[in-house]
Amino acid sequence: MVTKKPRIVIIGAGMAGLAAANKLYTCPISNTLFDLSIVEGGDRIGGRINSSEFCGDRIEQGATWIHGIEGSPIHKIAQDSNLLHSNQPWECMDEIYDDPITVAEGGHVLNPSFVEPISTLFKSLMDYIQGKDVQENGVISEVLKFCNLKNLSVGSFLRQGLEAYWSITKDEKGVTNVGNWSRKSLEEAIFAMHESIQRTFTSTNNLCNLDYSAERVYIMFPGEEITIAKGYSSVIDALASVLPVGMIQFGRKVERIEWQVESSRPVKLHFSDGTTLSANHVIVTVSLGVLKSGISEELNMFNPPLPNSKNQAISKLGYGVVNKVFLELSSFQDKKFPFLQMAFHQTGSLQSNPKIPPWIRRTSFICPIYSNSRTVLSWFTGQEAIGIESLTEEEIKSGFSTTVSNFLSTNGNELKFGKVLRTQWGTNPLFLGSYSYIAVGSSPDDMDTLAEPLPEIINLSDSSPPSPPLQILFAGEATHRTHYSTTHGAYFSGLREANRLLKHYNC
Ligand SMILES: Cc1cc2nc3c(=O)[nH]c(=O)nc-3n(C[C@H](O)[C@H](O)[C@H](O)COP(=O)(O)OP(=O)(O)OC[C@H]3O[C@@H](n4cnc5c(N)ncnc54)[C@H](O)[C@@H]3O)c2cc1C
Ligand SMILES: *[C@@H]1O[C@H](CO)[C@@H](O)[C@H](O)[C@H]1NC(C)=O
Ligand SMILES: *[C@@H]1O[C@H](CO)[C@@H](O)[C@H](O)[C@H]1NC(C)=O
Ligand SMILES: *[C@@H]1O[C@H](CO)[C@@H](O)[C@H](O)[C@H]1NC(C)=O
Ligand SMILES: *[C@@H]1O[C@H](CO)[C@@H](O)[C@H](O)[C@H]1NC(C)=O
Repeated sequence: MVTKKPRIVIIGAGMAGLAAANKLYTCPISNTLFDLSIVEGGDRIGGRINSSEFCGDRIEQGATWIHGIEGSPIHKIAQDSNLLHSNQPWECMDEIYDDPITVAEGGHVLNPSFVEPISTLFKSLMDYIQGKDVQENGVISEVLKFCNLKNLSVGSFLRQGLEAYWSITKDEKGVTNVGNWSRKSLEEAIFAMHESIQRTFTSTNNLCNLDYSAERVYIMFPGEEITIAKGYSSVIDALASVLPVGMIQFGRKVERIEWQVESSRPVKLHFSDGTTLSANHVIVTVSLGVLKSGISEELNMFNPPLPNSKNQAISKLGYGVVNKVFLELSSFQDKKFPFLQMAFHQTGSLQSNPKIPPWIRRTSFICPIYSNSRTVLSWFTGQEAIGIESLTEEEIKSGFSTTVSNFLSTNGNELKFGKVLRTQWGTNPLFLGSYSYIAVGSSPDDMDTLAEPLPEIINLSDSSPPSPPLQILFAGEATHRTHYSTTHGAYFSGLREANRLLKHYNC
Protein backbone atom coordinates (compact mmCIF):
# COMPACT_ATOMS: atom_id res chain seq x y z
CA MET A 1 0.00 0.00 0.00
CA VAL A 2 1.25 3.46 -0.84
CA THR A 3 1.08 5.77 2.14
CA LYS A 4 -0.80 8.95 1.48
CA LYS A 5 1.26 12.14 1.31
CA PRO A 6 0.64 14.44 4.25
CA ARG A 7 -1.96 16.97 3.18
CA ILE A 8 -1.40 20.63 4.05
CA VAL A 9 -4.25 23.06 3.52
CA ILE A 10 -3.67 26.80 3.83
CA ILE A 11 -6.75 28.86 4.61
CA GLY A 12 -6.49 32.25 2.89
CA ALA A 13 -4.57 33.46 -0.17
CA GLY A 14 -3.34 36.74 1.33
CA MET A 15 0.29 37.62 2.01
CA ALA A 16 0.73 35.11 4.86
CA GLY A 17 -0.93 32.22 3.03
CA LEU A 18 0.98 32.80 -0.19
CA ALA A 19 4.31 33.26 1.60
CA ALA A 20 3.74 29.90 3.30
CA ALA A 21 2.67 28.20 0.05
CA ASN A 22 5.60 29.67 -1.84
CA LYS A 23 8.04 28.40 0.79
CA LEU A 24 6.49 24.94 1.04
CA TYR A 25 6.23 24.52 -2.71
CA THR A 26 9.64 25.85 -3.73
CA CYS A 27 11.55 23.88 -1.12
CA PRO A 28 13.23 21.25 -3.35
CA ILE A 29 12.15 18.06 -1.58
CA SER A 30 8.86 19.16 -0.13
CA ASN A 31 7.18 19.89 -3.42
CA THR A 32 6.77 16.18 -4.01
CA LEU A 33 6.47 15.35 -0.32
CA PHE A 34 3.21 17.15 0.42
CA ASP A 35 -0.23 17.37 -1.02
CA LEU A 36 -0.57 21.17 -0.79
CA SER A 37 -3.55 23.40 -1.48
CA ILE A 38 -4.87 26.86 -0.58
CA VAL A 39 -8.53 27.48 0.04
CA GLU A 40 -9.63 31.09 -0.36
CA GLY A 41 -13.09 32.36 0.56
CA GLY A 42 -13.02 35.20 -1.97
CA ASP A 43 -12.52 35.24 -5.73
CA ARG A 44 -9.03 36.72 -5.88
CA ILE A 45 -5.61 36.45 -4.26
CA GLY A 46 -4.07 39.19 -2.11
CA GLY A 47 -6.51 39.57 0.77
CA ARG A 48 -5.91 42.96 2.36
CA ILE A 49 -3.68 43.82 -0.59
CA ASN A 50 -5.86 44.99 -3.47
CA SER A 51 -4.40 47.23 -6.15
CA SER A 52 -6.96 48.61 -8.56
CA GLU A 53 -7.68 51.52 -10.85
CA PHE A 54 -9.47 54.78 -10.31
CA CYS A 55 -9.88 57.35 -13.08
CA GLY A 56 -6.89 55.94 -14.93
CA ASP A 57 -4.57 55.95 -11.92
CA ARG A 58 -3.28 52.90 -10.13
CA ILE A 59 -4.45 52.99 -6.54
CA GLU A 60 -4.30 50.78 -3.46
CA GLN A 61 -7.49 49.86 -1.65
CA GLY A 62 -5.56 48.06 1.07
CA ALA A 63 -1.85 47.96 1.91
CA THR A 64 -0.13 51.00 0.45
CA TRP A 65 3.31 51.52 1.93
CA ILE A 66 6.46 49.52 2.43
CA HIS A 67 7.10 50.74 5.96
CA GLY A 68 10.88 51.14 5.76
CA ILE A 69 12.75 49.57 2.86
CA GLU A 70 15.91 48.46 4.69
CA GLY A 71 15.52 44.81 5.60
CA SER A 72 12.00 44.56 4.22
CA PRO A 73 11.39 41.27 2.40
CA ILE A 74 8.58 42.99 0.50
CA HIS A 75 11.00 45.57 -0.79
CA LYS A 76 13.39 42.81 -1.82
CA ILE A 77 10.70 40.99 -3.82
CA ALA A 78 9.60 44.27 -5.41
CA GLN A 79 13.16 45.10 -6.35
CA ASP A 80 14.06 41.63 -7.63
CA SER A 81 10.92 41.48 -9.76
CA ASN A 82 11.35 45.04 -11.02
CA LEU A 83 8.08 46.31 -9.55
CA LEU A 84 9.26 49.71 -8.39
CA HIS A 85 9.00 51.54 -11.72
CA SER A 86 5.99 52.10 -13.91
CA ASN A 87 4.85 54.25 -16.81
CA GLN A 88 1.31 54.36 -15.53
CA PRO A 89 0.75 56.98 -12.81
CA TRP A 90 0.29 55.49 -9.37
CA GLU A 91 -0.41 56.46 -5.78
CA CYS A 92 3.18 57.51 -5.07
CA MET A 93 2.24 60.29 -2.63
CA ASP A 94 5.15 62.49 -3.72
CA GLU A 95 3.30 65.56 -2.41
CA ILE A 96 4.24 64.46 1.09
CA TYR A 97 7.72 65.75 0.39
CA ASP A 98 6.47 69.19 -0.59
CA ASP A 99 5.28 71.29 2.27
CA PRO A 100 1.76 70.38 3.25
CA ILE A 101 -0.36 73.35 4.21
CA THR A 102 -2.23 73.31 7.49
CA VAL A 103 -5.55 75.09 7.49
CA ALA A 104 -7.84 75.70 10.43
CA GLU A 105 -11.60 75.31 10.07
CA GLY A 106 -12.99 78.52 8.65
CA GLY A 107 -10.30 78.62 5.94
CA HIS A 108 -7.43 80.07 7.97
CA VAL A 109 -4.10 79.02 6.52
CA LEU A 110 -1.82 78.59 9.49
CA ASN A 111 1.64 80.01 9.67
CA PRO A 112 4.16 77.16 9.97
CA SER A 113 5.64 78.92 13.00
CA PHE A 114 2.36 78.24 14.78
CA VAL A 115 2.02 74.62 13.67
CA GLU A 116 5.62 73.59 14.11
CA PRO A 117 5.92 73.70 17.93
CA ILE A 118 2.87 71.47 18.33
CA SER A 119 4.10 69.08 15.63
CA THR A 120 7.48 68.93 17.36
CA LEU A 121 5.81 68.34 20.71
CA PHE A 122 3.74 65.51 19.27
CA LYS A 123 6.73 63.95 17.55
CA SER A 124 8.92 64.06 20.63
CA LEU A 125 6.16 62.49 22.75
CA MET A 126 5.69 59.68 20.19
CA ASP A 127 9.46 59.20 19.89
CA TYR A 128 9.68 58.89 23.65
CA ILE A 129 6.81 56.38 23.74
CA GLN A 130 8.49 54.34 21.02
CA GLY A 131 11.79 54.32 22.87
CA LYS A 132 13.62 56.34 20.25
CA ASP A 133 16.58 58.44 21.16
CA VAL A 134 14.92 61.60 22.40
CA GLN A 135 16.17 64.13 24.84
CA GLU A 136 14.11 64.17 27.96
CA ASN A 137 12.80 67.67 27.61
CA GLY A 138 10.81 69.70 30.09
CA VAL A 139 7.48 68.41 28.89
CA ILE A 140 8.43 64.76 29.08
CA SER A 141 9.90 64.98 32.58
CA GLU A 142 6.78 66.87 33.65
CA VAL A 143 4.58 64.08 32.29
CA LEU A 144 6.69 61.33 33.84
CA LYS A 145 6.12 62.91 37.25
CA PHE A 146 2.43 62.16 37.02
CA CYS A 147 2.21 59.08 34.87
CA ASN A 148 1.63 55.67 36.24
CA LEU A 149 3.32 53.65 33.52
CA LYS A 150 1.33 50.55 34.38
CA ASN A 151 -1.59 49.95 32.07
CA LEU A 152 -0.97 53.32 30.49
CA SER A 153 -2.33 54.12 27.06
CA VAL A 154 -0.63 56.04 24.28
CA GLY A 155 -3.61 58.40 24.23
CA SER A 156 -3.45 59.35 27.88
CA PHE A 157 0.33 59.86 27.75
CA LEU A 158 -0.05 62.15 24.74
CA ARG A 159 -2.79 64.21 26.35
CA GLN A 160 -0.82 64.53 29.57
CA GLY A 161 2.04 65.74 27.38
CA LEU A 162 -0.16 68.43 25.89
CA GLU A 163 -1.33 69.50 29.35
CA ALA A 164 2.28 69.67 30.54
CA TYR A 165 3.18 71.76 27.50
CA TRP A 166 0.39 74.17 28.31
CA SER A 167 1.42 74.39 31.94
CA ILE A 168 4.94 75.32 30.82
CA THR A 169 3.86 77.84 28.14
CA LYS A 170 0.92 79.26 30.09
CA ASP A 171 2.27 82.80 30.15
CA GLU A 172 1.76 83.15 26.41
CA LYS A 173 -1.31 85.09 25.36
CA GLY A 174 -4.47 83.09 24.91
CA VAL A 175 -5.57 84.82 21.73
CA THR A 176 -4.62 84.32 18.10
CA ASN A 177 -5.21 86.37 15.01
CA VAL A 178 -6.76 83.29 13.41
CA GLY A 179 -10.51 83.87 13.09
CA ASN A 180 -11.94 83.48 16.54
CA TRP A 181 -9.81 80.52 17.48
CA SER A 182 -8.27 80.77 20.92
CA ARG A 183 -4.62 79.78 21.13
CA LYS A 184 -5.45 76.77 23.24
CA SER A 185 -8.21 75.45 21.00
CA LEU A 186 -6.07 75.87 17.91
CA GLU A 187 -3.12 74.07 19.49
CA GLU A 188 -5.49 71.37 20.58
CA ALA A 189 -6.84 71.04 17.03
CA ILE A 190 -3.34 70.69 15.57
CA PHE A 191 -2.47 68.12 18.21
CA ALA A 192 -5.69 66.22 17.41
CA MET A 193 -4.73 66.23 13.74
CA HIS A 194 -1.52 64.39 14.62
CA GLU A 195 -3.46 62.03 16.85
CA SER A 196 -5.65 61.18 13.87
CA ILE A 197 -2.63 60.17 11.83
CA GLN A 198 -1.49 57.98 14.72
CA ARG A 199 -4.95 56.41 14.88
CA THR A 200 -4.64 55.50 11.21
CA PHE A 201 -1.16 53.97 11.69
CA THR A 202 -2.52 51.73 14.38
CA SER A 203 -6.18 51.30 13.32
CA THR A 204 -7.38 52.15 16.80
CA ASN A 205 -10.50 54.24 17.20
CA ASN A 206 -9.20 55.85 20.35
CA LEU A 207 -5.52 56.13 21.27
CA CYS A 208 -6.60 55.67 24.89
CA ASN A 209 -7.15 52.04 23.93
CA LEU A 210 -3.62 51.64 22.51
CA ASP A 211 -1.17 50.04 24.93
CA TYR A 212 1.74 52.26 25.91
CA SER A 213 4.47 49.73 26.64
CA ALA A 214 3.87 47.69 23.47
CA GLU A 215 4.99 50.62 21.33
CA ARG A 216 8.58 49.83 22.29
CA VAL A 217 8.26 46.23 21.17
CA TYR A 218 7.01 47.06 17.68
CA ILE A 219 9.85 47.20 15.17
CA MET A 220 9.92 49.54 12.23
CA PHE A 221 12.38 48.96 9.40
CA PRO A 222 14.77 51.84 8.78
CA GLY A 223 14.98 53.66 5.47
CA GLU A 224 12.48 55.33 3.22
CA GLU A 225 8.81 54.47 3.17
CA ILE A 226 7.64 53.98 -0.40
CA THR A 227 4.69 52.73 -2.38
CA ILE A 228 4.95 50.14 -5.14
CA ALA A 229 4.78 51.51 -8.69
CA LYS A 230 3.38 48.37 -10.30
CA GLY A 231 0.90 48.01 -7.44
CA TYR A 232 1.15 46.08 -4.16
CA SER A 233 -0.69 43.22 -5.85
CA SER A 234 2.30 42.70 -8.15
CA VAL A 235 4.25 41.43 -5.11
CA ILE A 236 1.43 38.99 -4.42
CA ASP A 237 1.46 37.91 -8.08
CA ALA A 238 5.21 37.31 -7.85
CA LEU A 239 4.75 34.98 -4.86
CA ALA A 240 1.85 33.14 -6.48
CA SER A 241 3.46 32.81 -9.91
CA VAL A 242 5.47 29.72 -8.94
CA LEU A 243 2.41 27.80 -7.74
CA PRO A 244 0.76 25.38 -10.16
CA VAL A 245 -2.62 26.27 -11.61
CA GLY A 246 -5.39 24.85 -9.46
CA MET A 247 -3.43 24.87 -6.21
CA ILE A 248 -5.42 27.92 -5.11
CA GLN A 249 -9.14 27.18 -4.91
CA PHE A 250 -11.47 30.20 -4.90
CA GLY A 251 -14.91 30.59 -3.38
CA ARG A 252 -13.95 28.09 -0.67
CA LYS A 253 -15.08 29.75 2.54
CA VAL A 254 -14.26 27.68 5.61
CA GLU A 255 -17.05 27.73 8.19
CA ARG A 256 -15.88 25.16 10.68
CA ILE A 257 -12.56 23.58 11.54
CA GLU A 258 -12.90 20.24 13.25
CA TRP A 259 -9.68 18.93 14.76
CA GLN A 260 -8.57 15.96 16.89
CA VAL A 261 -10.62 13.83 14.49
CA GLU A 262 -9.66 10.18 14.91
CA SER A 263 -8.54 9.41 11.42
CA SER A 264 -5.35 9.41 9.40
CA ARG A 265 -6.14 13.07 8.69
CA PRO A 266 -7.05 14.68 12.00
CA VAL A 267 -8.39 18.01 10.69
CA LYS A 268 -11.65 18.28 8.80
CA LEU A 269 -12.63 21.55 7.11
CA HIS A 270 -16.30 22.31 6.53
CA PHE A 271 -17.00 24.79 3.74
CA SER A 272 -19.95 27.14 3.33
CA ASP A 273 -21.26 25.05 0.40
CA GLY A 274 -21.51 21.99 2.65
CA THR A 275 -18.43 20.20 1.28
CA THR A 276 -15.57 19.01 3.49
CA LEU A 277 -11.84 18.43 3.13
CA SER A 278 -9.60 16.46 5.47
CA ALA A 279 -6.01 17.37 6.12
CA ASN A 280 -3.04 16.54 8.30
CA HIS A 281 -2.12 20.18 8.78
CA VAL A 282 -4.05 23.38 8.32
CA ILE A 283 -2.46 26.83 8.33
CA VAL A 284 -5.08 29.38 9.36
CA THR A 285 -4.28 32.86 8.01
CA VAL A 286 -7.66 34.56 8.37
CA SER A 287 -7.63 38.01 9.96
CA LEU A 288 -7.88 38.62 13.69
CA GLY A 289 -11.32 40.07 13.00
CA VAL A 290 -12.47 36.83 11.38
CA LEU A 291 -11.05 34.89 14.35
CA LYS A 292 -12.79 37.21 16.85
CA SER A 293 -16.10 36.59 15.17
CA GLY A 294 -15.23 32.89 14.65
CA ILE A 295 -14.85 32.17 18.36
CA SER A 296 -18.24 33.73 19.16
CA GLU A 297 -20.95 31.39 20.38
CA GLU A 298 -23.02 31.76 17.22
CA LEU A 299 -20.23 30.74 14.87
CA ASN A 300 -18.14 28.28 16.87
CA MET A 301 -15.61 28.06 14.10
CA PHE A 302 -13.40 25.59 15.97
CA ASN A 303 -14.51 22.20 17.20
CA PRO A 304 -13.34 21.37 19.83
CA PRO A 305 -13.12 25.04 20.80
CA LEU A 306 -9.69 26.66 21.00
CA PRO A 307 -7.88 26.44 24.35
CA ASN A 308 -8.78 29.21 26.72
CA SER A 309 -5.41 30.96 26.43
CA LYS A 310 -5.90 31.34 22.71
CA ASN A 311 -9.46 32.59 23.02
CA GLN A 312 -8.28 35.13 25.59
CA ALA A 313 -5.54 36.36 23.28
CA ILE A 314 -7.97 36.67 20.35
CA SER A 315 -10.47 38.58 22.46
CA LYS A 316 -8.01 40.94 24.11
CA LEU A 317 -5.89 41.98 21.15
CA GLY A 318 -7.06 45.02 19.22
CA TYR A 319 -8.25 45.00 15.63
CA GLY A 320 -9.60 48.14 14.03
CA VAL A 321 -11.02 49.52 10.83
CA VAL A 322 -9.16 51.80 8.44
CA ASN A 323 -10.69 52.86 5.14
CA LYS A 324 -9.55 54.98 2.25
CA VAL A 325 -11.69 57.36 0.19
CA PHE A 326 -10.65 58.34 -3.33
CA LEU A 327 -12.39 61.25 -5.03
CA GLU A 328 -12.14 62.57 -8.55
CA LEU A 329 -11.75 66.35 -8.75
CA SER A 330 -14.16 67.71 -11.31
CA SER A 331 -13.47 71.38 -10.83
CA PHE A 332 -10.60 73.37 -9.28
CA GLN A 333 -8.84 73.39 -12.66
CA ASP A 334 -7.26 76.77 -12.09
CA LYS A 335 -5.30 75.76 -9.02
CA LYS A 336 -3.26 72.77 -8.01
CA PHE A 337 -4.92 70.87 -5.18
CA PRO A 338 -2.62 71.16 -2.15
CA PHE A 339 -1.60 68.60 0.42
CA LEU A 340 -4.22 69.85 2.83
CA GLN A 341 -3.90 69.15 6.54
CA MET A 342 -7.03 70.09 8.42
CA ALA A 343 -7.37 71.38 11.98
CA PHE A 344 -11.01 71.01 12.98
CA HIS A 345 -12.95 72.47 15.83
CA GLN A 346 -14.00 69.81 18.28
CA THR A 347 -17.20 68.06 17.25
CA GLY A 348 -20.13 69.90 18.76
CA SER A 349 -18.16 72.97 19.82
CA LEU A 350 -19.92 76.29 19.35
CA GLN A 351 -17.45 77.45 16.70
CA SER A 352 -17.75 74.34 14.58
CA ASN A 353 -19.50 74.67 11.26
CA PRO A 354 -22.62 72.50 11.48
CA LYS A 355 -22.53 71.81 7.73
CA ILE A 356 -19.29 69.87 8.06
CA PRO A 357 -20.33 66.28 8.80
CA PRO A 358 -19.06 64.70 12.04
CA TRP A 359 -17.57 61.72 10.17
CA ILE A 360 -14.97 63.92 8.52
CA ARG A 361 -13.87 65.76 11.67
CA ARG A 362 -11.24 63.26 12.72
CA THR A 363 -9.66 62.99 9.27
CA SER A 364 -6.30 64.69 9.14
CA PHE A 365 -5.67 65.33 5.48
CA ILE A 366 -6.86 65.36 1.87
CA CYS A 367 -4.23 65.18 -0.82
CA PRO A 368 -3.64 64.28 -4.45
CA ILE A 369 -2.23 60.76 -4.86
CA TYR A 370 0.65 62.24 -6.86
CA SER A 371 1.61 65.72 -7.90
CA ASN A 372 -1.12 67.18 -10.14
CA SER A 373 -3.28 64.06 -10.04
CA ARG A 374 -7.02 64.65 -10.35
CA THR A 375 -7.56 61.98 -7.71
CA VAL A 376 -7.48 63.02 -4.08
CA LEU A 377 -7.35 60.72 -1.08
CA SER A 378 -8.28 60.69 2.61
CA TRP A 379 -7.89 57.98 5.23
CA PHE A 380 -10.51 57.17 7.87
CA THR A 381 -10.10 55.25 11.10
CA GLY A 382 -12.29 53.66 13.75
CA GLN A 383 -15.84 54.85 14.20
CA GLU A 384 -15.71 57.19 11.22
CA ALA A 385 -14.23 54.46 9.02
CA ILE A 386 -17.11 52.20 10.00
CA GLY A 387 -19.54 55.08 9.51
CA ILE A 388 -18.55 55.87 5.94
CA GLU A 389 -19.07 52.26 4.87
CA SER A 390 -22.82 52.76 5.00
CA LEU A 391 -23.02 56.28 3.51
CA THR A 392 -24.13 56.74 -0.08
CA GLU A 393 -21.57 58.01 -2.57
CA GLU A 394 -23.57 61.24 -2.83
CA GLU A 395 -23.35 61.77 0.93
CA ILE A 396 -19.59 61.26 0.84
CA LYS A 397 -19.11 63.65 -2.07
CA SER A 398 -21.27 66.35 -0.56
CA GLY A 399 -19.55 66.03 2.84
CA PHE A 400 -16.16 66.45 1.18
CA SER A 401 -17.41 69.37 -0.96
CA THR A 402 -18.63 71.28 2.07
CA THR A 403 -15.47 70.59 4.00
CA VAL A 404 -12.98 71.41 1.26
CA SER A 405 -14.91 74.55 0.36
CA ASN A 406 -14.72 75.66 3.97
CA PHE A 407 -10.99 75.00 4.28
CA LEU A 408 -9.87 76.27 0.90
CA SER A 409 -12.18 79.32 0.88
CA THR A 410 -13.49 78.72 -2.62
CA ASN A 411 -15.49 81.97 -2.53
CA GLY A 412 -18.90 80.42 -2.46
CA ASN A 413 -18.19 78.09 -5.39
CA GLU A 414 -18.54 74.65 -3.90
CA LEU A 415 -15.84 72.37 -5.09
CA LYS A 416 -17.42 69.40 -6.88
CA PHE A 417 -16.28 65.84 -7.09
CA GLY A 418 -16.93 63.29 -9.83
CA LYS A 419 -16.34 59.64 -9.08
CA VAL A 420 -15.79 58.31 -5.60
CA LEU A 421 -14.37 55.04 -4.32
CA ARG A 422 -14.49 54.14 -0.67
CA THR A 423 -13.19 50.89 0.78
CA GLN A 424 -15.33 48.75 3.08
CA TRP A 425 -12.92 46.57 5.04
CA GLY A 426 -15.01 46.60 8.21
CA THR A 427 -18.17 45.06 6.83
CA ASN A 428 -16.50 42.66 4.39
CA PRO A 429 -17.04 39.25 6.06
CA LEU A 430 -13.65 37.96 4.87
CA PHE A 431 -11.78 40.70 6.78
CA LEU A 432 -14.07 42.41 9.33
CA GLY A 433 -11.52 45.18 9.76
CA SER A 434 -8.09 46.31 8.62
CA TYR A 435 -5.22 45.44 10.96
CA SER A 436 -4.34 44.60 14.52
CA TYR A 437 -2.87 46.56 17.41
CA ILE A 438 -1.99 45.93 21.04
CA ALA A 439 -4.98 47.15 23.00
CA VAL A 440 -4.73 48.23 26.63
CA GLY A 441 -5.12 45.01 28.61
CA SER A 442 -3.25 42.89 26.03
CA SER A 443 0.43 42.55 25.22
CA PRO A 444 2.73 41.29 22.47
CA ASP A 445 2.76 37.96 24.36
CA ASP A 446 -0.82 37.51 23.21
CA MET A 447 0.43 37.53 19.63
CA ASP A 448 2.88 34.76 20.52
CA THR A 449 0.04 32.83 22.11
CA LEU A 450 -2.00 33.30 18.96
CA ALA A 451 0.91 31.93 16.91
CA GLU A 452 1.20 28.67 18.92
CA PRO A 453 0.22 25.58 16.93
CA LEU A 454 -2.43 23.13 18.13
CA PRO A 455 -2.67 20.76 19.83
CA GLU A 456 -0.57 22.29 22.58
CA ILE A 457 2.84 20.71 23.18
CA ILE A 458 2.47 17.12 24.33
CA ASN A 459 2.99 16.54 28.02
CA LEU A 460 5.32 13.53 28.07
CA SER A 461 4.28 12.41 31.52
CA ASP A 462 0.65 12.42 30.44
CA SER A 463 -0.64 8.87 30.00
CA SER A 464 -3.30 9.67 27.39
CA PRO A 465 -2.22 8.76 23.84
CA PRO A 466 -0.51 11.66 22.08
CA SER A 467 -2.57 13.28 19.36
CA PRO A 468 -1.01 14.03 15.96
CA PRO A 469 1.09 17.20 16.20
CA LEU A 470 0.71 20.43 14.25
CA GLN A 471 -2.92 19.99 13.29
CA ILE A 472 -3.70 23.70 13.26
CA LEU A 473 -1.03 26.34 12.68
CA PHE A 474 -1.63 30.07 12.79
CA ALA A 475 -0.13 32.70 10.54
CA GLY A 476 -1.19 36.18 9.52
CA GLU A 477 -0.24 39.71 10.42
CA ALA A 478 -1.70 39.47 13.95
CA THR A 479 0.56 36.54 14.88
CA HIS A 480 3.78 38.52 14.56
CA ARG A 481 4.95 40.01 17.84
CA THR A 482 7.11 42.79 16.40
CA HIS A 483 5.85 43.41 12.85
CA TYR A 484 2.10 43.00 13.29
CA SER A 485 -0.26 45.11 11.16
CA THR A 486 2.02 45.03 8.13
CA THR A 487 2.46 43.07 4.92
CA HIS A 488 5.98 42.04 5.91
CA GLY A 489 4.68 40.85 9.30
CA ALA A 490 2.19 38.68 7.41
CA TYR A 491 4.98 37.48 5.11
CA PHE A 492 7.29 36.52 7.99
CA SER A 493 4.46 34.69 9.75
CA GLY A 494 3.77 32.60 6.64
CA LEU A 495 7.43 31.64 6.40
CA ARG A 496 7.51 30.81 10.09
CA GLU A 497 4.69 28.29 9.80
CA ALA A 498 6.01 26.78 6.55
CA ASN A 499 9.38 26.32 8.27
CA ARG A 500 7.70 24.75 11.29
CA LEU A 501 6.23 22.07 9.02
CA LEU A 502 9.42 21.61 7.03
CA LYS A 503 11.35 21.11 10.25
CA HIS A 504 8.79 18.63 11.48
CA TYR A 505 9.35 16.56 8.32
CA ASN A 506 13.11 17.03 8.58
CA CYS A 507 13.55 19.01 5.42
C1 LIG B 1 -6.75 50.04 4.24
C2 LIG B 1 -5.51 49.26 4.62
C3 LIG B 1 -4.26 49.85 4.52
C4 LIG B 1 -3.12 49.16 4.85
N1 LIG B 1 -1.91 49.77 4.69
C5 LIG B 1 -0.78 49.06 4.89
C6 LIG B 1 0.48 49.62 4.55
O1 LIG B 1 0.56 50.75 4.07
N2 LIG B 1 1.61 48.86 4.76
C7 LIG B 1 1.53 47.60 5.28
O2 LIG B 1 2.58 46.96 5.45
N3 LIG B 1 0.34 47.04 5.60
C8 LIG B 1 -0.81 47.74 5.40
N4 LIG B 1 -2.02 47.17 5.67
C9 LIG B 1 -2.05 45.87 6.35
C10 LIG B 1 -1.77 44.70 5.40
O3 LIG B 1 -2.60 44.81 4.29
C11 LIG B 1 -2.05 43.40 6.14
O4 LIG B 1 -1.32 43.37 7.34
C12 LIG B 1 -1.67 42.15 5.36
O5 LIG B 1 -2.01 42.26 3.99
C13 LIG B 1 -2.38 40.96 5.99
O6 LIG B 1 -2.10 39.76 5.32
P1 LIG B 1 -2.63 38.38 5.91
O7 LIG B 1 -2.20 37.32 4.97
O8 LIG B 1 -2.24 38.28 7.33
O9 LIG B 1 -4.22 38.51 5.94
P2 LIG B 1 -5.28 38.70 4.74
O10 LIG B 1 -4.71 39.56 3.69
O11 LIG B 1 -6.53 39.14 5.40
O12 LIG B 1 -5.46 37.25 4.15
C14 LIG B 1 -6.38 36.32 4.68
C15 LIG B 1 -7.15 35.68 3.55
O13 LIG B 1 -8.09 34.76 4.12
C16 LIG B 1 -9.30 34.84 3.41
N5 LIG B 1 -10.36 34.36 4.32
C17 LIG B 1 -10.89 35.00 5.37
N6 LIG B 1 -11.80 34.22 5.98
C18 LIG B 1 -11.83 33.06 5.30
C19 LIG B 1 -12.56 31.84 5.45
N7 LIG B 1 -13.44 31.68 6.44
N8 LIG B 1 -12.35 30.84 4.56
C20 LIG B 1 -11.44 30.99 3.55
N9 LIG B 1 -10.73 32.10 3.37
C21 LIG B 1 -10.92 33.13 4.23
C22 LIG B 1 -9.43 36.29 3.03
O14 LIG B 1 -10.28 36.44 1.91
C23 LIG B 1 -7.98 36.67 2.73
O15 LIG B 1 -7.67 36.52 1.36
C24 LIG B 1 -3.20 47.83 5.31
C25 LIG B 1 -4.44 47.21 5.41
C26 LIG B 1 -5.59 47.92 5.05
C27 LIG B 1 -6.91 47.22 5.14
C1 LIG C 1 -10.69 44.76 -4.70
O1 LIG C 1 -10.67 45.50 -5.88
C2 LIG C 1 -11.65 45.14 -6.80
C3 LIG C 1 -11.41 45.95 -8.07
O2 LIG C 1 -11.48 47.32 -7.82
C4 LIG C 1 -13.03 45.36 -6.22
O3 LIG C 1 -14.03 44.94 -7.14
C5 LIG C 1 -13.16 44.58 -4.93
O4 LIG C 1 -14.36 44.90 -4.28
C6 LIG C 1 -12.01 44.90 -4.00
N1 LIG C 1 -12.07 44.04 -2.84
C7 LIG C 1 -11.88 44.47 -1.61
C8 LIG C 1 -12.01 43.48 -0.54
O5 LIG C 1 -11.60 45.63 -1.36
C1 LIG D 1 -16.72 83.24 15.46
O1 LIG D 1 -17.63 82.30 16.03
C2 LIG D 1 -18.99 82.59 15.83
C3 LIG D 1 -19.80 81.55 16.54
O2 LIG D 1 -19.43 81.50 17.89
C4 LIG D 1 -19.31 82.64 14.35
O3 LIG D 1 -20.64 82.98 14.15
C5 LIG D 1 -18.40 83.63 13.65
O4 LIG D 1 -18.61 83.58 12.27
C6 LIG D 1 -16.96 83.32 13.97
N1 LIG D 1 -16.11 84.34 13.42
C7 LIG D 1 -15.04 84.07 12.67
C8 LIG D 1 -14.24 85.23 12.21
O5 LIG D 1 -14.70 82.93 12.39
C1 LIG E 1 -5.96 47.70 32.45
O1 LIG E 1 -6.92 48.27 31.59
C2 LIG E 1 -7.89 47.38 31.15
C3 LIG E 1 -8.75 48.07 30.10
O2 LIG E 1 -9.01 49.39 30.42
C4 LIG E 1 -8.69 46.87 32.33
O3 LIG E 1 -9.66 45.95 31.89
C5 LIG E 1 -7.74 46.19 33.29
O4 LIG E 1 -8.43 45.80 34.44
C6 LIG E 1 -6.61 47.13 33.71
N1 LIG E 1 -5.61 46.41 34.49
C7 LIG E 1 -5.01 46.96 35.55
C8 LIG E 1 -3.98 46.09 36.22
O5 LIG E 1 -5.27 48.06 35.96
C1 LIG F 1 1.47 16.74 32.63
O1 LIG F 1 0.56 15.71 32.89
C2 LIG F 1 0.58 15.26 34.26
C3 LIG F 1 -0.35 14.04 34.37
O2 LIG F 1 -1.55 14.23 33.67
C4 LIG F 1 0.14 16.40 35.16
O3 LIG F 1 0.18 16.02 36.52
C5 LIG F 1 1.09 17.58 34.94
O4 LIG F 1 0.65 18.70 35.68
C6 LIG F 1 1.15 17.97 33.46
N1 LIG F 1 2.15 18.99 33.27
C7 LIG F 1 1.93 20.07 32.53
C8 LIG F 1 3.08 21.01 32.41
O5 LIG F 1 0.87 20.30 31.99
